[in-house]
Amino acid sequence: MKINENFLKIQSSYLFSNIAKKVNAYVAANPDKPIIRLGIGDVTRPLADECITAMHKAVDHMADEKTFMGYPPEYGHSWLITAINENDYKSRGVELDNSEIFVSDGAKSDCGNIGDIFSLDNRVAVCDPVYPVYVDTNVMMGRSKDMLYMPCTAENGFLPQIPTEKADIIYLCFPNNPTGMAITKDELKKWVDYANANGSVILFDSAYEAFITEDNVPHSIYEIEGAKTCAIEFRSFSKTAGFTGVRCGYTVVPHDLKVDGVELNALWARRQATKFNGVSYITQRAAAACYTDAGKQQIRDTIAYYQKNAKVIYDGLKSCGFTVYGAVNSPYVWLKTPDGMKSWDFFDLLLENIQVVGTPGEGFGPSGEGYFRLTSFGSAENTAKAVERIKNYFGK
Ligand code: MLT
Repeated sequence: MKINENFLKIQSSYLFSNIAKKVNAYVAANPDKPIIRLGIGDVTRPLADECITAMHKAVDHMADEKTFMGYPPEYGHSWLITAINENDYKSRGVELDNSEIFVSDGAKSDCGNIGDIFSLDNRVAVCDPVYPVYVDTNVMMGRSKDMLYMPCTAENGFLPQIPTEKADIIYLCFPNNPTGMAITKDELKKWVDYANANGSVILFDSAYEAFITEDNVPHSIYEIEGAKTCAIEFRSFSKTAGFTGVRCGYTVVPHDLKVDGVELNALWARRQATKFNGVSYITQRAAAACYTDAGKQQIRDTIAYYQKNAKVIYDGLKSCGFTVYGAVNSPYVWLKTPDGMKSWDFFDLLLENIQVVGTPGEGFGPSGEGYFRLTSFGSAENTAKAVERIKNYFGK
């Protein structure tokens, strides 16, 4: 009997679990000091009324033998897939077939699981700093070649440079987690051209697209010509519609995307049918409700609420001398720690002195050292309070 020793090559606990442990220990030791959590990107606003109504109705369907449902269709109910296709793609000029859309329990799982369909012999390229799921899942699987880290720093505007050596699988997340920076259509086109020229596959995580405010920033990689032959896209209802606790997302694998004549769509379909049993009917009804006129408006209102928080953090930090990035097309604010402080030291300083929790940039990779991430997903009240505490502490 042997374990998968690849698990010994990664940190024993996931970044956000680590932070939660540290914070919980602090809270237990200091029960009189209220904490403000702006660390993990977890939402705080309740679900849209439309979603709640749809879920209640769906529960009633499950209570009646005439409308009860057992296993859901393995790739999602057709009414949800059609709503996704029409609202998220057709409306932006992207033509997809419904069979190219796979509903799932979220982008994190799909980003982690997609590696199943690729050989272990591929070279993976990731941004640095990076959402840790991309790196950890490849190490867990035993992807054999050294990973290519593409530094994203203030010097390059937090945009990865096209690698000079060949990358087979390229993870791109835009608007970016953790830096909150976006990519323009022109810049993304360069990646699509690189991937098509080199036979690489881009894994495009678009979980934060609902926060885009600028017109030259693409919501989907398929807005870029040529992307269907080189890219898989991951989307999530988590940040768009507050589904972090409900769990629903989807992945697009175009039929035109082929490696050595094999459609990746067929491999992903096979993988999902074997290892995944679909998303609950109740959840899918909630997801479909996001696309009604009222649902769209309610979701937009919630996004606007978080966008306002992002601006409060961004402006507040700037006014007291911090160098800040992100926020404009993203719920994340990425700041430079003062006086070159290490990001975990800054984490401890904020926790111990003003009880504000953020995420140390170094937790996302070596190029995140010296940076720190705050999220706009808290309540407006707590966000304003956290900014006040920071302003008071840093003396301006
Ligand atoms: C984050 O804080 O980076 C995200 O909430 C993590 C996730 O979406 O899994």
